[in-house]
Amino acid sequence: MANVFRETAPERAEAGDRRIGIVMNGVTGRMGTNQHLVRSILAIREQGGVAVGPGERLWPEPLLVGRDERKLRALAEPHGLPFTTDLDSALADDEYEVYFDAQVTSRREGAVRQAVEAGRHVYCEKPITEDLPSALALAELAEEAGIKHGVVQDKLFLPGLRTLKRVLDSGQLGRILAVRGEFGYWVFPGPDPAPQRPSWNYRAEDGGGIVGDMFSHWRYVLDELFGSVTGVYALGAVHLPLRHDEAGAPYDATAEDAAYAIFELEQGVIAQLNSSWCVRVDRGELFELQVDGTEGSAVAGLRECRIQPGTATPRAIWNPDLPDPIDHRSAWLPVPATETDNAFKAQWERFLRHVALDEPFPWDFRAAARGVQLAELGMQSWREKCFVEVPPL
Ligand SMILES: NC(=O)c1ccc[n+]([C@@H]2O[C@H](COP(=O)([O-])OP(=O)(O)OC[C@H]3O[C@@H](n4cnc5c(N)ncnc54)[C@H](O)[C@@H]3O)[C@@H](O)[C@H]2O)c1
Repeated sequence: MANVFRETAPERAEAGDRRIGIVMNGVTGRMGTNQHLVRSILAIREQGGVAVGPGERLWPEPLLVGRDERKLRALAEPHGLPFTTDLDSALADDEYEVYFDAQVTSRREGAVRQAVEAGRHVYCEKPITEDLPSALALAELAEEAGIKHGVVQDKLFLPGLRTLKRVLDSGQLGRILAVRGEFGYWVFPGPDPAPQRPSWNYRAEDGGGIVGDMFSHWRYVLDELFGSVTGVYALGAVHLPLRHDEAGAPYDATAEDAAYAIFELEQGVIAQLNSSWCVRVDRGELFELQVDGTEGSAVAGLRECRIQPGTATPRAIWNPDLPDPIDHRSAWLPVPATETDNAFKAQWERFLRHVALDEPFPWDFRAAARGVQLAELGMQSWREKCFVEVPPL
């Protein structure tokens, strides 16, 4: 293959391993480097691959792709990985059957289309594209090509939400009434302290905005845990119209940095989710979700989950004239997590098994399109200041 720089790779794959070559694009970014390369693919290699049977394992073999050779080299060299700035030749190389994309959202559609047309299986970050027609078009293209396709839906693999799912599936909360979630933290507008997220996130013209970013998560979290989303009312806000970029220069923040939403779900469940980069955290975790049911309640975060069975619910009496005699926080029981792996890595392992063993992988491009649909309808609701129904796709 042309223009591929290969460092001396530590040879750890063993005879009999099922090698899966992965072209990883956008891997110099925040998500690409930390979550996908280091904590997923390299972590899988460090653990000795994905064990799929006695003495059998899947062995991911990444080829890093990006625009900036200097950055790529700095990332690839310490790990002895090959890299290239030439996406076309990477996609033409039959040694690499999977294409992965964690580029900025606005660049994804073209690259994913190219990968599908080259016959590669594709796994990519969310949101898959910036609008529903293009997301559905990619889903159709992938289905017609018969390739395997998937989208990152990492929140489903978080220990806290996995535990919550177990609690919900047990039925012990009874009929679910409502869900209330808080996501967010203070993202510094800069210049000092420096902002801790990329500046394109706050420019609408570059594909930024918290609705597109977070509603693509809320869609699968709500659909899979509580029932399909059937309607949305959302109000966004550009709370901080001036921010500073990576170089410390001021820019107009044109994308919403907070969204306050109510979702209607199947079976009448009501979910309220606040997403904000303009909130200071007074919770145990950066994301927390409370679920109230007829027989009990649960609170789940990224890692933790606790419940309050109906039979243990304190009898609260409204009397602001006296200190509350009940310690409400102590009326909850921790639920031990059974899974503690990194969420991105857990989903990567599922995708690799899907590619190699044909195991089911429901988080495909159709699921990705549902996330884009909810973001789009959320924006419509905000624009028109009205409740918007979410039709099945
Ligand atoms: N699953 C999640 O929880 C999660 C969280 C954050 C971001 N994301 C998604 O991951 C993707 C990457 O986000 P990120 O936070 O890593 O962004 P980032 O800015 O840190 O990285 C973007 C990557 O795209 C590349 N790129 C290509 N063209 C570019 C351009 N014109 N401008 C800027 N960068 C360009 C960069 O080199 C870099 O490798 C986005 O689609 C975002 O929605 C997902």
